[in-house]
Amino acid sequence: MVHSSSKTIFLCNNCGNEFSKWHGQCPACNEWGTLSEFSPPKSRRKSHGQPARETQLLNTLLEKKDRQRILSNIKEVDRVLGGGFLLGSMILLGGQPGIGKSTLALQIIAGLGQDVLYVSAEESEQQLALRAERLGVKSERFHVSGENEILNILEQVSVVQPKFVVIDSIQTVYNEDLDSLPGSVSQLRDCGQQLLKACKQKGFTVIVIGHVTKEGIIAGPKMLEHMVDTVLYLEGDDRYDHRILRSAKNRFGATNEVGIFHMTSSGLEEVSNPSELFLAERTTNAAGTAIFPSMEGTRPILVEVQALVSKANFGIPQRNVNGIDSRRLSMLLAVLEKRLGQVMGLNDVFVNLVGGLKIQDPAADLSIISAVASSNRDNIVSENTVLIGEVGLTGEVRSVSRIDQRLQEAAALGFTHAVIPKGNMKNSKKPKGLNIHGVGTVQEAFKYLF
Ligand code: TYD
Ligand code: MG
Repeated sequence: MVHSSSKTIFLCNNCGNEFSKWHGQCPACNEWGTLSEFSPPKSRRKSHGQPARETQLLNTLLEKKDRQRILSNIKEVDRVLGGGFLLGSMILLGGQPGIGKSTLALQIIAGLGQDVLYVSAEESEQQLALRAERLGVKSERFHVSGENEILNILEQVSVVQPKFVVIDSIQTVYNEDLDSLPGSVSQLRDCGQQLLKACKQKGFTVIVIGHVTKEGIIAGPKMLEHMVDTVLYLEGDDRYDHRILRSAKNRFGATNEVGIFHMTSSGLEEVSNPSELFLAERTTNAAGTAIFPSMEGTRPILVEVQALVSKANFGIPQRNVNGIDSRRLSMLLAVLEKRLGQVMGLNDVFVNLVGGLKIQDPAADLSIISAVASSNRDNIVSENTVLIGEVGLTGEVRSVSRIDQRLQEAAALGFTHAVIPKGNMKNSKKPKGLNIHGVGTVQEAFKYLF
């Protein structure tokens, strides 16, 4: 459906009623702040509308099923995508301003070897050319456009007939027929829909760059994420010069796969051994650190969990986390207090995943709780040990997925001891050089560690 009427109405997200004017409080259901702008779709007139697309037989579709994947020749990108780009797909590349989205998009294009149209709606064509030169991007099949209006962009697409289109960024593209400003909900929705329709019909792949807000969501409605086939986020931290590419949604591959890059003056470089990167500045022989073999998508990455427990001097004790869920930490602190008698109530607790990774894997529990206990008791966790296990409310250590890959990575990086859940002992292979110790509870783990 194409929304291109110029008349704007307001929809209440709560009761669904329509209004011609904006109200702070919905006149129908009396909720506050639920009205948002909406452009109604054109009426679907049978006589003048577009003819319906032809139906197709499943068998003929299956014959075409190995629509070729096109590789960008940047291994980290291709893996995150699930094996390269599929023609006719729409990809959203999100990230904070300045994180490196335009740089990455340009580098991807350079490796494709296809006709490409780069719509630089944010920077001038000259700026883009200079950047391309700096990155060493040279291609005779690389078309650049400084256009901002969506219908003009689609016209250019018809002329150039590219296999790939980059929109940099969706927040600066607009449809003239709508009254609202570029970047507004109705503009994003309309431009997104137009691009989606064009890419499915003409079979080109479109990479849409979108800025995210401080809270980490694509500026604009979630619906942009629902619309596209793949959502990639480029993340990173000002303190580090590496960047992490993560797939948050992928209709053609697994999610939560990550690609890791190192920033250089000539662009992003792939990091083929991320564990080494994350452990590079590791402190050894210090209390409050533990190593966790994390699974990021299909790849194991060793990360250092750091914790600091100190007496709170005034007010409510602080709980400060970086890279893990703060509620998970609260739960682990409660287990420490109730099951292991380590009282945390009067202490500040800081937990940090070194290197700016974010982990949601519950298998990190044992390493987090051990790092906190290590700092609290001033006891060191041996530097050659990795810790794996989900911690339950009674202090039990539960088994986790993909234990073999985690252990292999630990062994490959020279770790000699691993503490893992008892439940994983039966079915895990023992990599050479790694002593494996199975534990059923956190108490058992601490007895072994400290
Ligand atoms: P840019 O790609 O413009 O970020 P975004 O499109 O997300 O806003 O990158 C921001 C700046 O960082 C730009 O001046 C180029 C520089 N940069 C490097 O020098 N090396 C790199 O590897 C990357 C990713 C960026
Ligand atoms: Mg940019």
